[in-house]
Amino acid sequence: MTPRILVLYYSRTGATRQLADAIAQGITSAGGEAIMRTVPSEGEPASARDMIVSEDDLRTCDGLIMGSPTRFGHMVSALQKFWETTSAVWVRGGLVDKPAAVFTSSSSMHGGQESTLLSMAIPLLHQGMVLCGIPYTEPAIQNTDAGGTPYGASHVDHAAGSNLNRSEKDAAITLGERVTRIAASLRSANP
Ligand SMILES: Cc1cc2nc3c(=O)[nH]c(=O)nc-3n(C[C@H](O)[C@H](O)[C@H](O)COP(=O)(O)O)c2cc1C
Repeated sequence: MTPRILVLYYSRTGATRQLADAIAQGITSAGGEAIMRTVPSEGEPASARDMIVSEDDLRTCDGLIMGSPTRFGHMVSALQKFWETTSAVWVRGGLVDKPAAVFTSSSSMHGGQESTLLSMAIPLLHQGMVLCGIPYTEPAIQNTDAGGTPYGASHVDHAAGSNLNRSEKDAAITLGERVTRIAASLRSANP
């Protein structure tokens, strides 16, 4: 069956959404279905292109890739707030053994991408998910002079909502492909 990968992200000016779209491209090219979802904005104008995530989306996905703008070196509060509503899924172990990954966009090169990515992994680990990064076998991780990290996909967004460069896009596609492949093999090992 086609692996269903939930791409859960928040984006105010569109940069994180561009990463979400490149990740979705990777999911599709690896034979998966990308389920694009966002969270309610916290009183600020945000991209409303995709539906708000539901508990059912968590229950029915085979993997999850979460993206946030970097906000003072952390994920946006709207995403943190969402995870604080997921106790029922956690109690049932609804995400246990499913693969997960993270992505972020920041305006400056050393403005906290890695701290954001690593802190975004924490709720996913509490949910029992299997964390996936981007290995150095992906040439974009070796060669990038902007975003793209072993901890997850990223974009250095010098002008709000700027386009991904080639390495950032390639790394994001690879992450989507990798989570999809791992989701398919984990599911066939634990039907
Ligand atoms: C409240 C706030 C805090 C931010 N903190 C950081 C930061 O710590 N480091 C950084 O490089 N950029 C920071 N930024 C810039 C955003 O991370 C950047 O513009 C990002 O690409 C926006 O993503 P979006 O277009 O998906 O909304 C911050 C922006 C806001 C509004």
